[in-house]
Amino acid sequence: MRKHIPILTFVFILLLQGFICYAQKKTIDQKVDSVLKMMTLDEKIGQMNQYNGPWGATGPLTNDNNLLSQIKEGKVGSMLNVTGVKRTRELQELAMQSRLKIPLLFGQDVIHGYRTIFPIPLAEAASWDMEAIERSARIAATEASAAGIHWTFAPMVDIARDPRWGRVMEGAGEDPYLGSMIAVARVKGFQGKGFGHTDAVMACAKHFAAYGAAVGGRDYNSVDMSLRQLHEVYLPPFKAAAAAGAASFMNSFNDLNGIPATGNSYLQRDILKKEWGFKGFVVSDWGSVGEMIPHGYAKDNYEAAILAANAGSDMDMESRSYIKNLAQAVKEGKVKIAVIDEAVRRLLKKKFEMGLFDDPYRFCNEEREKQQWDNQAHLHAELDIAKRSVVLLKNEQNVLPIKRSDQTIALIGPFVKAKSDNLGFWSYDWPDDSLRVVSLWEGMQKKASKGTKLLYAKGCNIIDTSSSGFEEAVEAANKADVVIMSIGEARDMSGEAKSRSNIHLPGVQEELVKAVAATGKPIIVLISAGRPLVFNTVAEKAKAILYTWWLGTKAGDAMTDILFGDYNPSGKLPMSFPITEGQIPVYYNHFNTGRPAKDDNDRFYRSAYTDLSLYPAYPFGFGLSYTHFSYSGITLNKESIKPGETLKASITVTNIGSMEGKETVQLYIRDLVGSVVRPVKELKGFQQVTLKPGESKEIYFAITANDLRFYNDKLLYKYEPGDFKLFIGTNSRDVKEADFKLIK
Ligand code: GLC
Repeated sequence: MRKHIPILTFVFILLLQGFICYAQKKTIDQKVDSVLKMMTLDEKIGQMNQYNGPWGATGPLTNDNNLLSQIKEGKVGSMLNVTGVKRTRELQELAMQSRLKIPLLFGQDVIHGYRTIFPIPLAEAASWDMEAIERSARIAATEASAAGIHWTFAPMVDIARDPRWGRVMEGAGEDPYLGSMIAVARVKGFQGKGFGHTDAVMACAKHFAAYGAAVGGRDYNSVDMSLRQLHEVYLPPFKAAAAAGAASFMNSFNDLNGIPATGNSYLQRDILKKEWGFKGFVVSDWGSVGEMIPHGYAKDNYEAAILAANAGSDMDMESRSYIKNLAQAVKEGKVKIAVIDEAVRRLLKKKFEMGLFDDPYRFCNEEREKQQWDNQAHLHAELDIAKRSVVLLKNEQNVLPIKRSDQTIALIGPFVKAKSDNLGFWSYDWPDDSLRVVSLWEGMQKKASKGTKLLYAKGCNIIDTSSSGFEEAVEAANKADVVIMSIGEARDMSGEAKSRSNIHLPGVQEELVKAVAATGKPIIVLISAGRPLVFNTVAEKAKAILYTWWLGTKAGDAMTDILFGDYNPSGKLPMSFPITEGQIPVYYNHFNTGRPAKDDNDRFYRSAYTDLSLYPAYPFGFGLSYTHFSYSGITLNKESIKPGETLKASITVTNIGSMEGKETVQLYIRDLVGSVVRPVKELKGFQQVTLKPGESKEIYFAITANDLRFYNDKLLYKYEPGDFKLFIGTNSRDVKEADFKLIK
């Protein structure tokens, strides 16, 4: 007979565990307080001070020649852009010479990989695969922590609807629901099993907040929006990251409704620390404390320091406003010591949780650094998510996948032999990249069978004015059965401070495509970029288009596997692609307006351009497959639900093509009438299903009243009874629909 643990013993064990946890937790809080009690005001302010290392910068450097002595004097709490066991140990040893031996935190922009470079975050978002995205962040954390890094300035969770803004490459696109799920996946990936594990790094949700809504898509520009839109569209991924336990937040460069985020206590105290109960700390963005002077919000660094500290910015990255002014501000009563203590408590707590007080060198393990230097499993995982990130935009007459043997393939374009340009912005240059990064040319050589002849012509440079290479390209095309053109943006053409008014293909690449197309050969185009580009001419001339973003270390292998059909593309766009810059902003979850145009023939006296289609070139959620999926009608288990009830929607998806493929089935809703107007569609769910040719699967979605909530005009997050539409389909435009009601 099974022995049962007497209930009393069970309860006692639970209580004992609870006490131990309480005792441990209490111990960390106590330890923080005990260190705080010993600290001078200068030492406290030193913890709130972060400097860039002396070996490389990611922002405008303020030259400071007594950096190292300040570390010894306990005037530095954290360093950024210091990597490698050797260098982090070197600076940590200096910190151990300070009076209280408070360890440094080493922070780094590990945005999409460290030693193994993964697809850029916008590309990974196109995979809609949370497991793969979490795995990517987990691997980045494993490699970065092995290199002495404690803290990554990622995930960037800014919602972005404007591809003129170069930083769209760092985020998850235009949708709050998808963006929130990806924020959670990345925080969990980076932080792994939790602080204290030497393969876990602290995450940092950035840039708080609404940085992606900069006017005109111009980086660092102003943001002005209703609090309703802020809460409805831009805050959800941050809220999700905080709920997922992100260790830190980074505030943003922009002013929001007239107040710079760095000095914005509504954001940092009212919402983040009070309403959301965030227990981590906030770091400013590079120099953003001091930038409140040009913003016209602070008259000098002294005032900037006061405003930022009082607004809840716990650490000052590189502006030196805190270290030079806060002591005076406290003495003059402009900043209460309680504000300083609260900030320092938050910072010290993370250092304790990371185990740095127990062993400041616990991330400085040379053996572990060596082990993670060429981790083949990581490269395999990188190739896997790279393939899942590619989006098939066109495939006329099923020209893809191409035959592996017995044909001549011309590979033309400036990206064919590209190496580091596949790594994208916010990546690292390692000495052996020329060997380690796989180009398309190398990938094709590995996979094309013996009977296949590969021809190569560059045609032009990525940024070029000359067409002198066109002749050679045309010649190669004329000798080929099929042409593969690999074109796009150089790796530094999207990213920070890379806003562009013209997001067409750079240089003469479009002309190159036209010249090659004139041969009449079938052309397949691969576009590598960090943002949605405008490429209408290419779209007309090409038989097939693969959007290959910047795919990272194994880019060429991923592209090749897709070209030969070893992987059937499954990516779906996380951002709408505009037909032209004049159409921006264009996004799927827009309001209907009082004069919605029905279609492109209904554009007069309508909320539409008279000279341009209503629709983007490619809509949010769009992505084709080498196979084809058909969707049945939607079945609902009831026509209406009350709060507390569940509406079950089902649809049958069938693979009617000849290849196995993965489909991301998307669920949208529309609230037809609300106390404030509601978007014409809102993503509320998605499921990925892999089907063999001829196979069908019934997909179910459950909707409750809580899924229908929104911020009303009083900023209350509530649902409202009424009529709704429900959409299920392969993207935000091609959907089946059904009606239902939410009743009281
Ligand atoms: C940069 C970026 C921020 C980055 C920081 C440190 O200016 O805005 O995303 O984490 O500085 O490099």
